[in-house]
Amino acid sequence: MKSLVCDTPRELNYREINQPSLSPGQTILKIKRIGICGTDLHAFDGTQPFFSYPRILGHELAGEIVAMDGAEGFAINEKVTFIPYFNCGHCVACKNGKPNCCVDIRVFGVHIDGGMAEYISVPSYSLVHGEGLSYDELALVEPLAIGAHSIRRAEVRKDEFVLVIGAGPIGLGTMEFARIAGARVIAMDINNGRLEFCKNRLKISHTVNALEEDVKKRLIEITEGEMPTVVIDATGSLKAINNGFQYLAHGGKYVLVGLQKGEISFSHPEFHKREATLMSSRNATREDFEHVINSMKKKLVDPTNYITHRVGFEDLKEEFAKFKDPANGVIKAVAELN
Ligand SMILES: NC(=O)c1ccc[n+]([C@@H]2O[C@H](COP(=O)([O-])OP(=O)(O)OC[C@H]3O[C@@H](n4cnc5c(N)ncnc54)[C@H](O)[C@@H]3O)[C@@H](O)[C@H]2O)c1
Ligand SMILES: [Zn+2]
Ligand SMILES: [Zn+2]
Repeated sequence: MKSLVCDTPRELNYREINQPSLSPGQTILKIKRIGICGTDLHAFDGTQPFFSYPRILGHELAGEIVAMDGAEGFAINEKVTFIPYFNCGHCVACKNGKPNCCVDIRVFGVHIDGGMAEYISVPSYSLVHGEGLSYDELALVEPLAIGAHSIRRAEVRKDEFVLVIGAGPIGLGTMEFARIAGARVIAMDINNGRLEFCKNRLKISHTVNALEEDVKKRLIEITEGEMPTVVIDATGSLKAINNGFQYLAHGGKYVLVGLQKGEISFSHPEFHKREATLMSSRNATREDFEHVINSMKKKLVDPTNYITHRVGFEDLKEEFAKFKDPANGVIKAVAELN
């Protein structure tokens, strides 16, 4: 079968490899859609920490079951997605119901070979039913679940102001699930194109450009002086993360979904004064995947909003580098297989 391998940074090559055969506890999927994520683009660029090559990328996947073992309740030919973070099942996090931050986590397409191939083998425990959804929708469940998880972590309540900093695919999903939780959402970015997308496609009424406006003043206006009770970083920019602390209401929560390599610093008296809560949000759990799927079924979120670029799997190698260029306005690119 055909696979696309990232042999070294900036070098993708198609390679014929053996089709996976069925082993105990595994399911074989025929891949139908591959969503391209920032992680894949960073891996391609060689800027993804702790990444080893050669590697088959891709973890935002939708496919059809062609063979299975131990996949109770699933059927041959069923449309599915799966939770691509494989966990050990016995570490402290797994025991406490947090497989998303397993000590020994293996993310498909990151730590182990992923989904840029015609067929893959995944643990049957990771499967998620996709009945009633399209393959396009199913490929978007994972990136949306990241945002849904952060909103659940923050226990977002109806009518509270949630500021989401960063309107990339991850931040946009976060905004949608904040809205679904009933919050009043404020979108912040430095890219007007992305803020327009928030306004026009996601119907978010408050948008702030962090470079062009006096952010504190705008937030005071929007929240009538109270400031947002939840601030979520989805930029992965150290500068944006350090700045985010000052936008938080007294008693508020700051959730870091974005990730960067440096050390965060903030004023302890300012943090103390607010009795603020700081938390990170990593990956997502089955509960989040199911929440995303139910929200898609209820049409509360329209995943087709996000797909700005489509490509056949046979052209993915050629097109891949283009997805990184901001001039192309990519939000989500999806590769298709028949
Ligand atoms: N929590 C998780 O498990 C998880 C999963 C996937 C991705 N991530 C992380 O989420 C982050 C976002 O991912 P993405 O794919 O949406 O990235 P992206 O680069 O597409 O989007 C980031 C956005 O932040 C904006 N931005 C940058 N600096 C800013 C600033 N100073 N102020 C305001 N906005 C600013 C950019 O203009 C861009 O629109 C990354 O750090 C990524 O590593 C986390
Ligand atoms: Zn991803
Ligand atoms: Zn574990």
